[in-house]
This record gives sequence, C-alpha cells and structure tokens, in this order.
Amino acid sequence: MTDRSSILITGGVGFVGSHFARMAHEAGRRVVILDNYSGGGAAQLSSDIPIVIGDIGDVALVRRVCAEHAVGAVAHFAGKIQVGESVRDPQLYFDVNLVRTLRLLAAVRDAGVHACLFSSTAAVYGEPTRVPIPETERRQPVNPYGATKLAIEYALDAWCHAYGLRWAALRYFNAAGAHPDGTVRESHEPETHLIPLVLDAGMRLREPLTIYGTDYDTPDGTCIRDYIHVQDLATAHLLALALIENGQTLGPVNLGTGHGYSVREVIDAARVVLGRDVPHAMGPRRPGDPPRLVADAARAADLLGWTPRRSGLEMTVEDALRSRRDGLTQTRRLA
Ligand code: UFG
Repeated sequence: MTDRSSILITGGVGFVGSHFARMAHEAGRRVVILDNYSGGGAAQLSSDIPIVIGDIGDVALVRRVCAEHAVGAVAHFAGKIQVGESVRDPQLYFDVNLVRTLRLLAAVRDAGVHACLFSSTAAVYGEPTRVPIPETERRQPVNPYGATKLAIEYALDAWCHAYGLRWAALRYFNAAGAHPDGTVRESHEPETHLIPLVLDAGMRLREPLTIYGTDYDTPDGTCIRDYIHVQDLATAHLLALALIENGQTLGPVNLGTGHGYSVREVIDAARVVLGRDVPHAMGPRRPGDPPRLVADAARAADLLGWTPRRSGLEMTVEDALRSRRDGLTQTRRLA
C-alpha cells in the first residue's frame, strides 16, 4: 500500500534534494519541499509539488508544514556544502548545518515525525587511513563542513535512543550527473564542483579549469574521487526511506561506486563527450583536499539492495552536459 503521509524535503530545490523530490513524487509519494533558495537551485520540478519558502530553523513554520501536509518523514538535504567556505566562515556552517538542523529536529519531533534521512558526507572521514573507506573508518573531519555533518550524525543517534527517531545518514561521496532528460541539473551558486566547471570550461562558458594540485601520491598526480550519479543517490534515498518507514534505523551508509577517477580522467572523459579540448591549467593544491576518497559501498548494497546503475563516468558527464546545454546555464559566455 502506498504511504499517504508526506515526506518533508528540506533543500528540495537543490541538486540532490530536487532529484529525490522528483523521484519520490514519480513513485507516488506525497512530498512537500521546504527551501529558502539560498543555494541557487534551478531545478524544474512538477508544479504538483508544493514548495514552502522558508528556513529550516523556523520551528513554528516547520511545525505548521508538518501538520498541514501530514508529514510522516523528513529528508534533510538543506545545508551549506563548500569546504573552503566552511574554513573561512565556520560560524555560518555551524549555524546553518548544526544549530538550524537541531531546531528542525526539535520541530519535527514536536510534530510526531519519527523518520529522518540525513544528507551526510564523506567529509566526516577527513584523511582516511583505509581506501576504499568503510563506514567503520575513524571519523576525523579536517574542516568545519565535515565537523557539522558529523555533529548531526551524533545528534541523530542520541535522538534515536532518547526519542525513538529512526534515521539514516547517507554519506555521499562526489554527487554528480543530472537527470537524464536534462531538466534537473547541478547548480550551485557559486559553482565549485569539478564536473560542471570542466564542462563549462570545455564549452568556453567560463575561464579554463585550474587543476588543484598535480603532485599528489596518485598515479597521475591529481586527486581521486568517487563520482556517484545523482539518480543513483536519489534511488538509494527511496530504498533507505522504505526501510526506515518499516521500523529500521540504518545509521551511517556510504553512497559511492567503489571506483575512483582522477581529475585528469574526468577532464579526458569530458573531452570525449564534448568532442573538443577542455582548456585547463595546473595550479597549487586546494587546502583540505584529501588525495583519494573512494567508498566501500558494501553496506549500501547489503542493507538497501542498492547498486549504482548510472554512475559510469562517461554517462555521468554526458548527463551533466545535456543538463547544461539545454539552455539552463546562467554563466556568462566568454568566447
Ligand atoms: N578540482 C579541481 N579544480 C576545480 C575544482 C575541483 O582540480 O576547479 C578538484 C578538487 O581538488 C578535487 C576534485 O576536483 O580533487 C573534486 O572536487 P569537488 O570540489 O568537485 O568535490 P570535493 O571532492 O571537494 O567535495 C565533495 C563534495 C563535498 C564533500 C567532499 C568530501 O562536494 O560536499 O566531496 O570530501 F564534502
């Protein structure tokens, strides 16, 4: 039987949240989005999906939305996500990602919501001692962004023991790609992520890409990341939510492919997909970048029965390109 309660999706106009909102809606779930549009958000979502514009820390608003929409679960995507910015402005990160999330948790608890999906991150591991990284790896974030996400994981665990909250912290590796029909894309303001920057540089929509560091201890000297397609991420959320709604608590779950690609390999894939060179230059390392982040995704496979299906690098880059070509890009044409 389809669950008739709604899923409250915070950050639902953002990159991963909008893909999840669309997939859940298409699966017949009722959803309601809460977003303050601070992250950019150019998602085209069905007009059937209600969007409440507001702040996750507004307890009265969250309580009202939960009551009006018969919310039974919260999928919490909203948050600040830039590592470098978190180092420069930790107050902002601790406020939005920690303080306001605690207010959100208080509000949904008041409203009788006992199921929570949380967007966590591989940044909770810091510089891992083992790669591929299992969930049991020690968590030692090296920047405020990762620290705020880890703090919420601790809070969720405590909420579970004290108040019966059932939860999963989905630790994303590098979310990438776009909806295959090109209508929901990666859009951050400002954009700092590799694949959109590589594609925009290749299309001459912005300046050449700077490779942040070519002297890492990796085969080609550039950093290695595990790029996971946003559609695969959205699928994992639906599977995790079904288990939580059935009474389970999952705790932390890595979402990655188990395979890493270097920055140079991403540039090569983009060159093939674009059919032209990607202008780039070598630059210094970006502070806080671990050399290699690759998931051990065995737990997601076992618990959720989840296998990434769309995450091949070329398909991921192709989907990202289609979404950027389809007239959605807001960047200035330089050449
Ligand atoms: N990179 C460049 N040039 C650029 C942008 C990125 O060389 O202009 C490199 C980075 O140094 C890194 C790789 O490309 O090695 C990927 O960088 P992204 O900024 O796309 O992603 P990150 O790996 O820094 O960050 C991602 C998520 C974060 C999360 C982090 C976990 O976006 O939210 O993984 O460490 F915290």
